[in-house]
Amino acid sequence: VSLKPFNTFGMDVTALAYMEVKAVDDLVRVYGDARLMTLPRLVIGGGSNLLLTGCFEGLVMHMGIKGICLEKEDAEYIYLRAAAGEKWHDLVLWTLEKGFGGLENLSWIPGTVGAAPVQNIGAYGVEVQDRFFSLRAFDFESGEIVELGRSDCRFGYRDSIFKNAMKNRLVIVDVTFALPKNWHPNKGYAEVEKELERVGIADPSPAEVGRTIMQIRQRKLPNPAVLGNAGSFFKNPTVPAEKLFRLKSEYPEIPAYSQPDGRYRIAAGWLIDRCGWKGRRIGDAGVCEKQALVLVNYGNATGKDILALAEAIERDVFDRFSIRLEPEPVFV
Ligand code: EPU
Repeated sequence: VSLKPFNTFGMDVTALAYMEVKAVDDLVRVYGDARLMTLPRLVIGGGSNLLLTGCFEGLVMHMGIKGICLEKEDAEYIYLRAAAGEKWHDLVLWTLEKGFGGLENLSWIPGTVGAAPVQNIGAYGVEVQDRFFSLRAFDFESGEIVELGRSDCRFGYRDSIFKNAMKNRLVIVDVTFALPKNWHPNKGYAEVEKELERVGIADPSPAEVGRTIMQIRQRKLPNPAVLGNAGSFFKNPTVPAEKLFRLKSEYPEIPAYSQPDGRYRIAAGWLIDRCGWKGRRIGDAGVCEKQALVLVNYGNATGKDILALAEAIERDVFDRFSIRLEPEPVFV
């Protein structure tokens, strides 16, 4: 089976076996099949945070469980549950149509609901963990459904237990979000502020914030349906304050954001841009012209081509700034 339609980088590699997961029962069936259980497993949602570097000698499970429902509400929150196979942005639109705020800053992020907690997706000052209540997952060790709360998931910046200890064990089947009834726009992000001002909206609704963010993202980020990519290819690195001050003396304009622990997060896109990589390409593997943090496949790049490009970038950034960049997507 070719995996080309199932990864946004458009890598044309194959998998030994493939199945569409339409319900939890499909996972139970895999669990009960001794032959399938000997194979390595890979769950793919939207395939938008995935770099396939070769053929996968195992079972690909394409997550297709659907459904969104209002679960309950209390004085503070509206709880809604969404199945893992729903497209993330469809869920955001669903909430905005109903007038619920809370997910609007996460508009227009590719991928599925089930993938969102895996890498704790984030944008414009909001991360999935901020709206997360709980999730249910199928445990391939016990064959049962388990429920995890927020602290169980060990969320970090673009990180969670599902990328680490539970990587091949738990398959997320649905996620419950808690959306605040007392909603305020999250205005900490200058770019969003400026855009709202430009279009003359002073007191935005959740849907208006969502629309504004969609416009910003459509302007800056390549559409994976047109040009293969997996969003940000590197994480923004965190450095100690002393290191930032040293860098600032040479590069006063370096974009950096203070963290609760006193360290600073530096914009990796800026570092890559400063090394002259923006818009460059090696064969069909390239650095996006609009956002240096995004690597793109111009057609026939392989996973190895993208990796070679990424390594060349990492080397240059390290030579110039003594900072090690860390890739963001999951490598298979
Ligand atoms: N910059 C450059 N050159 C570039 C790209 C960026 O100089 O080519 C500078 C910008 O001028 C800006 C700074 O770097 O001052 C930050 O850029 P931007 O606001 O575009 O955000 P980012 O840090 O590059 C992060 C997330 C994005 C998220 C945006 C908005 C990571 C790895 N990436 O990007 O998430 O949408 O902030 O909140 O944290 C993703 O993870 O796939 C993703 C797209």
